[in-house]
Amino acid sequence: MKIIIANWKMYVSYKQAQQFFIAHQQALATLAKHTQLVICPSSESLSTAAQLLKNDGIFLGAQECSAFNPGPYTGQVSAQSLKELGCSYAIVGHSEQRRYLGYTDHLITQSALHLLAQAITPIICCGENAQDYELNHTAHILKQQLEPILKTIAAASPEHKSIILAYEPVWAIGTQAIAPQDHVQQQINFIKQLAQTYLPAYTIAIVYGGSVSYTAMESLSGIAGLDGVMVGHESTDFQKLEKIVLSYV
Ligand code: PGA
Repeated sequence: MKIIIANWKMYVSYKQAQQFFIAHQQALATLAKHTQLVICPSSESLSTAAQLLKNDGIFLGAQECSAFNPGPYTGQVSAQSLKELGCSYAIVGHSEQRRYLGYTDHLITQSALHLLAQAITPIICCGENAQDYELNHTAHILKQQLEPILKTIAAASPEHKSIILAYEPVWAIGTQAIAPQDHVQQQINFIKQLAQTYLPAYTIAIVYGGSVSYTAMESLSGIAGLDGVMVGHESTDFQKLEKIVLSYV
């Protein structure tokens, strides 16, 4: 089954999330029969989501996980709490967190390790910016971002050996600019190769993110080895999300 990750970012408030789940509970459960649907609301909505979506076959994902052990870290959410809340996945290393919050490769790696220790599958994001894309430096950037993380995970050898790698060109996020099919195909192949080199014994899924919409699905569906998509803004509108899912089954 294809993986569809709904990354709600900070688009949906606590009350709006609650209303979304109540209004579309049955339809979401139907979609979850066709696809591996992961919904990632903001942290404050995780508990409500877990209650309203339980038994519906939908997976819960977090957008944030602390790089630190539980302790004096104001504003942080621990991997342990995410586990207790019922999260199966959590996004780490998203370019918005790198850009606006200064998250570094080291912090991202630590978050991923904490998640794996709780048997939560990290969704590790990577992607080049517009300039690197223009200069044809994508492979170099992806290697730079992913290699240290994959190496550290390999060395830590957690029991939970499952990871999602999300290729998200920064210039394609929230811009309605979809990366060309051959470009995405090349990066998917490259990421797959990297993952196989460092984590041969792991279950690795590779997804694409960046302005995913129903109209983009035709091009994305043709990409070999692509296990799914991460959908930002369009996933906050149920009808749009449903169209994307149904076009991908
Ligand atoms: P977008 O976001 O679909 O709104 O471009 C994707 C993402 O950042 O995961």
